[in-house]
Amino acid sequence: MKIAVIGTGYVGLVSGTCFAETGNSVLCVDIDAAKVDKMRNGEVPIYEPDLDVLFERNQRQGRLSFTTDLQEAVDMAEIIFLALPTPPGEDGQADLKYILGVASQLSKMINRYTVIVDKSTVPVGTAEKVRAVLGEHLDETLFDVVSNPEFLREGVAVDDFLKPDRVVIGVDSKRAADMMQRLYEPFVRSGNPIIIMDLRSAEMTKYAANSYLATRISFMNEIANLCEQVGADVDAVRKGMGSDTRIGKRFLFPGVGYGGSCFPKDVQALAHTSDQYGYSFKILDAVMDVNTRQRFRVADKLEAHFGDEIGGKTIALWGLAFKPNTDDIREAPALYTIDRLLKAGTNVRVFDPEAMGNVRKIYGDKITFCEDQYEAIRNADCLAIMTEWSMFRTPDFNHMKSLLKDPVVIDGRNLYDVQRMLENGFQYESIGRKP
Ligand code: UGA
Repeated sequence: MKIAVIGTGYVGLVSGTCFAETGNSVLCVDIDAAKVDKMRNGEVPIYEPDLDVLFERNQRQGRLSFTTDLQEAVDMAEIIFLALPTPPGEDGQADLKYILGVASQLSKMINRYTVIVDKSTVPVGTAEKVRAVLGEHLDETLFDVVSNPEFLREGVAVDDFLKPDRVVIGVDSKRAADMMQRLYEPFVRSGNPIIIMDLRSAEMTKYAANSYLATRISFMNEIANLCEQVGADVDAVRKGMGSDTRIGKRFLFPGVGYGGSCFPKDVQALAHTSDQYGYSFKILDAVMDVNTRQRFRVADKLEAHFGDEIGGKTIALWGLAFKPNTDDIREAPALYTIDRLLKAGTNVRVFDPEAMGNVRKIYGDKITFCEDQYEAIRNADCLAIMTEWSMFRTPDFNHMKSLLKDPVVIDGRNLYDVQRMLENGFQYESIGRKP
């Protein structure tokens, strides 16, 4: 099929590349000419495992190309995906100016039947707004609007896209539904469902799924904090709970709170939608409050450990990205921790395999960026672990002890066995587990 993707951010680029991988012709559009030039020269603008291989292959074989010219995309495409930014506006609600702006341009360009797909996460009712804008200059027989929310996770985005648990399609036209089904069938050969529903339900599904996952995380963080009080071990509790197939094993890991560009924004947006409809969605408020508190859990533990002396100490952080396999630091708990430590006058040394460039843009020389994880802990009073990168899972513990001034580890991601750490002579604290 012939596909255009407007917007080459995270979702747009991964979607476009993966649609090309299944044999479609894909033209990606972006207003940023410099970015388009770079992509034409084979440069992938984001860090995402496996994306570079697919990007290179599909570009070389002519299925994936780039332009700044929206008309060119309209002329070639049967289906146009809108994967545009929806930054939070002043009132916290997603700002639709990019989506509606492009819809308005499209309404003057389209001259044969085209399916317009909302791929970005957008508030309930957006598809109808897009339809209204398109309808300003366009006969209603010439287009349909579809809501097709994306469920990929950063770090495993390509795999998630190529093998989705499900594809959700909100649509109210048989013709558009058939085209979307044809496009997605190669991705669900395993038998996973393509679920067709109305537009508003599809939009709601995305917020409900992310908010539910965020709720699970906040719930487990509360269980972990309580485990510390009552002397229980959250790892055991998690396994005991998760083995119930009604609950399931995934997404039950306590830690330093959820971050990233999706959960914080989407939970807030759903709460906002509820408010707009005069409905008080009480759980969401609690989910956000718990997360705000949990983000400071490691900083709280550091302050409890060092007391008033924290100001003169040197503390090393392993991990800055909001989760492993990404350089994304949006809403990353590590940043909240750094802010608190700097305010207390602490020296901060950091290491992250991918995210240091982004963090340097914020802190400059206020913190020390180190070449590797061991350099970060040299002469530090304590190590705090903020992101569960695989390389931190089996470090050389003896080497660590020889580098740290005191063998103190505050682990925000529960990477190590508590007993073994104590036997190895560490003062070790983690989240929700008995010391
Ligand atoms: C999330 C969803 O998982 C995707 O399905 C969705 O498509 C995406 O948002 C989106 O809306 O675009 P993502 O933000 O990439 O994906 O990251 P996740 O892997 O879901 O992790 C989110 C946060 O939750 C991270 O900070 C992670 O450390 C935290 N987390 C996750 C926990 O604290 N505990 C867990 O058990 C799982």
